[in-house]
Amino acid sequence: MRIDIVTIFPQFFDILDLSLLGKARAQGIIDLHVHDLRDATHDRHRAVDDTPYGGGAGMVMKPEPWGETLDAIFEASPVDSPLVVFPSPAGTTFTQPYAHELSRESHIIFGCGRYEGIDQRVFEYAASRARVQLVSLGDYVLNGGEVAVMAMIEAFGRLIPGVVGNPESLVEESHEQGLLEYPSYTKPAVWRDREVPSILLSGHHANIAAWRHEQQVERTQRVRPDLYAAWANEQ
Ligand code: ADE
Repeated sequence: MRIDIVTIFPQFFDILDLSLLGKARAQGIIDLHVHDLRDATHDRHRAVDDTPYGGGAGMVMKPEPWGETLDAIFEASPVDSPLVVFPSPAGTTFTQPYAHELSRESHIIFGCGRYEGIDQRVFEYAASRARVQLVSLGDYVLNGGEVAVMAMIEAFGRLIPGVVGNPESLVEESHEQGLLEYPSYTKPAVWRDREVPSILLSGHHANIAAWRHEQQVERTQRVRPDLYAAWANEQ
């Protein structure tokens, strides 16, 4: 999969050299290109923002550097219609099913906004050349899209075949079956007077599976009544 990121803080993404995603890059599963938006400015100050038409607080990202950067990426795209994702608190909410959708794309372009946002015409122009989605991590405001892009790449990157060594480990996670995951334990069997639930030491696989499922249901009902209601509705 090819991933392009447009940002005014390219160093932010240096950490994608680490861990599972770093390995996936080294293996060629992920082909990452990070672009400094300021490289597409042509003034002495390398300005990427300006005051908003109509007045109001803050600054807006200018369309020209975006257009020039996106054009170069579209030109290099291995597909006819890549997916352009702009992280934004005004977007649709990022979810595990959406992470699965992203993991099946061939080319994703992330556009990281800063300040009060990007000139609206950039979204319209991008939509004339590609598929465009505005995506929010949740109902809170970040200073810019960079952290949101990191979170999204972490979420969908591990779903790309070959990135996580044992794909079975993905199946029982929180949000995969509409429930939160069950609690996990490892050795020692007693730690600071706290015992591992005895059923996990029983070796009885069916009983262990039933106990884990009960724990998932109980935890989801207690912590996320919204998820529980949706799950119970499906049963
Ligand atoms: N940029 C600023 N806030 C954001 C959010 N909540 N989700 C995604 N991108 C953002």
